Amino acid sequence: MKTSDSIPVKYRKDYKPSAYLIHETKLDFDLFDDHSIVTARLKLQANPNADPSDSLVLDGEELKLLEIFINGQKLESAQYETDSEQLTVWLDKVHNLNYQQNSFELMTKVRIYPNTNTSLEGLYLSNGKFCTQCEAEGFRKITYYSDRPDVMSIFTVRIEAAQQKYPHLLSNGNQTEHGKLANGRHYAIWHDPFRKPSYLFALCAGNYDLLEDHFKTQSGRKIKLEIYVDKGKLEQCHHAMASLKKAMAWDEEVFGLEYDLDIYMVVAVGDFNMGAMENKGLNIFNTKYVLAHSDTATDQDFEDVEAVIAHEYFHNWTGNRVTCRDWFQLSLKEGLTVFRDQQFTADQTDHAVKRIEDVKVIRSHQFAEDAGPMAHPIRPDSYIEMNNFYTVTVYNKGAEIIRMYHTLLGAGGFRHGMDLYFERHDGQAVTCEDFVCAMEDANEYDLKQFRRWYSQAGTPELTVTSEYDELHRKLTLHVKQTCPDTPGQSNKQPFHIPLKLGLLDKEGKDLPLQLAANPEQLTGDILHITQLEQSFEFTEIAQQPVLSLLRNFSAPVRLHYDYNDHELAFLFAHDSDPFNQWEAGQRLFARVIWQLCAEQEAGEVMQFPLHLVNAVQNLLSSESLDGRFKALALTLPDIKALIEEVERVNLDHLIVAHNFLKKELACQLEMDWLVHYQANHHVGKFQQDKTSIAQRAFAGVCLSYLVALEKPKAYELAVSQLLNSNNMTDAETGLKLLMHSNYEDKQQLADDFYQKWQNEDLVVNKWFMSQATDPSDPTIERVETLIEHPAFDLKNPNKVRAVVGAFAGANLAQFHRKDGQGYVFLAEQIKRLYSVNPQTAARLTGAFNRWKKFDDERQRLMCEQLQGILQLPDLSKDVYEIASKALG
Ligand code: PHE
Ligand code: ZN
Repeated sequence: MKTSDSIPVKYRKDYKPSAYLIHETKLDFDLFDDHSIVTARLKLQANPNADPSDSLVLDGEELKLLEIFINGQKLESAQYETDSEQLTVWLDKVHNLNYQQNSFELMTKVRIYPNTNTSLEGLYLSNGKFCTQCEAEGFRKITYYSDRPDVMSIFTVRIEAAQQKYPHLLSNGNQTEHGKLANGRHYAIWHDPFRKPSYLFALCAGNYDLLEDHFKTQSGRKIKLEIYVDKGKLEQCHHAMASLKKAMAWDEEVFGLEYDLDIYMVVAVGDFNMGAMENKGLNIFNTKYVLAHSDTATDQDFEDVEAVIAHEYFHNWTGNRVTCRDWFQLSLKEGLTVFRDQQFTADQTDHAVKRIEDVKVIRSHQFAEDAGPMAHPIRPDSYIEMNNFYTVTVYNKGAEIIRMYHTLLGAGGFRHGMDLYFERHDGQAVTCEDFVCAMEDANEYDLKQFRRWYSQAGTPELTVTSEYDELHRKLTLHVKQTCPDTPGQSNKQPFHIPLKLGLLDKEGKDLPLQLAANPEQLTGDILHITQLEQSFEFTEIAQQPVLSLLRNFSAPVRLHYDYNDHELAFLFAHDSDPFNQWEAGQRLFARVIWQLCAEQEAGEVMQFPLHLVNAVQNLLSSESLDGRFKALALTLPDIKALIEEVERVNLDHLIVAHNFLKKELACQLEMDWLVHYQANHHVGKFQQDKTSIAQRAFAGVCLSYLVALEKPKAYELAVSQLLNSNNMTDAETGLKLLMHSNYEDKQQLADDFYQKWQNEDLVVNKWFMSQATDPSDPTIERVETLIEHPAFDLKNPNKVRAVVGAFAGANLAQFHRKDGQGYVFLAEQIKRLYSVNPQTAARLTGAFNRWKKFDDERQRLMCEQLQGILQLPDLSKDVYEIASKALG
């Protein structure tokens, strides 16, 4: 068993610049089916900004060192040493080497085994093709190097492989040379003119289908665009290509940022731990975020592809041109780039819908992380395994922090800050603090208190009360802020929280906002919350208003305000802020659900509150609202988000209440669901314009209510949608609803669906997922058989996520079975996976993180599994960190 003292913790405060810089990096790859030889020639120089050192220490893992030379001198064993993590060269023992003054060349030759590399980190083979993944610390599995983002170098890469099997040889930058060799081999040489850290290095070699296009930049340069995919997938690449061109144009238009190399390549691979990777000029993507055709991909998949393509493209400036000094600064590039991709998607689709979707992620996942054992600030202070810190906090909460600059400074002020950031830091590896300074200086805006968002973990809570004084036409708001303790942090200091608000009159119109005193506390409709307790007096308020607070979710906080049903119904009908309109509906639903829980607790019969019928009916028949908005507003609050609203949850009651409400709404409005379903569901020619997408989304929710009726007629509709659809959006909706229902022939439908789609991996994953998330009872046995299915592959993270991840993360009823079998199943999969793919195993382990929310018996059962995991022999750091912190 790993003990805490055998596992090193890294701290942000310990940062020191690297003792040696690497000006040039020349890599030679000799690729073979069963091994590869990597020769590195590094031009090294002592770093004038670091403490001098007589030894050169380079990172290296799982490397077999074959040769080592300095300035052409072969080193003897007394001059260097290797262990499982490092190469140390005693430079003072190398003859005639003036290593403090002059630059020198280190040459190493290593052997590595990409064919047995299942961690999907470093150089590995996926489906007969070589590819790399180096972020965060994977480059050290390729060669000995100073594998840290503040060591930036000019890379030249030579790749050699068998020509027939690997006709395409790719790396970063521009190809400068290629040619044929003896024995059926060939080579290519690539040169990247931009200095970059090792985590942005990439290499791909294989036989791909290629989609080519180009983009003309605002300054008139013609950029070659290339997408490489597995043979036969070319028709599924056009959407990714169109998305790339849109992203390139958008970044020019909105941020004035133009692409810098002459070629931009995207390679899709089936085995990938994450979504995609922004390697300079050579992005590597999970197939899930490249391939999209309406036969095999849903409208949501199309939107996801567009967003991830944009995200990786945007990294070229926010991440690559300006990179991170160290991994504690990860949110510098990720929070900013997520914010940029969110804005891009909002511009392509609908701002309100996109905002709601993003906030749902925060509430269901990030709030949970912030309240659990892994809580960390967006700029963490320590970690055991960096791979565990690619989190919803660093990414999505990080994006919320960036959004708050945009809210506080306005679009123009934000742009000025960005311009200054690039002007100051292009070509550098910098910190979050440098970003704050750029925003601050460009706008002469004091962000001293705002900086606490980077250092304090936990979700702040705002408690608001109000009083209306009719005589003096005045409304007083009292606002309190608190932030719960998180591991290693207590007594938090107050945050600067932008609270966007509106005061609605009887017609639902916004009243003008004006403070009696301290006018600097209000900018437009943004109230600046900066103290633990504050009161604000609004004047000239002629009638008692209804409060619309935290509009557009202007800060990542929990808001407590004691709304009554009447006010919520009013906001649901009238709020001009579409986010809060949606929010009011969700609060109405949530109140009912908690009320239903209380009734069960008291042993009473559950009562359906009829006032909901009206509110829902009005929404259903609204002519002004978009179909996607309606779909979101008609979807009941996510159970995961509800769990985060309470200290401890009675999960059984919560699930019963949730189902009861769904079924009651289905019954009360049966005719409405049917009418709207029929009006919005189309079987004719497939179209993918905004209107059609919105109609499919709306129809899908209507169908989900109909299926909740559990009537043969409704099942028939779903079956017909599944079997007769001409697109995957409708088919998947039908499949999912039926798999989660008690429809008696569902197994037959599942088998037929598999027969039809067995050659499309991404569709097979949908099939896996729809079954793994079935909340009804024999699912645990079903899931046991799914992992034995020939299409399942423990080495493929998409498959593991589709079955095990979906079961543990999205099937609350079955994962949290009272008999603990769900927990046992998950622990068994972690045991099978932790040495094969530590990163993916660690993600799965995170499903136990919220154990403290549940009843004593479930807590005991979950802890038992966590303890078992900690006993595993040679447990990976990744899983150890998650499991040990969970038990904390
Ligand atoms: N940097 C990638 C992104 O956010 C994510 C990633 C991290 C991919 C680590 C692979 C490994 O776009
Ligand atoms: Zn990213």
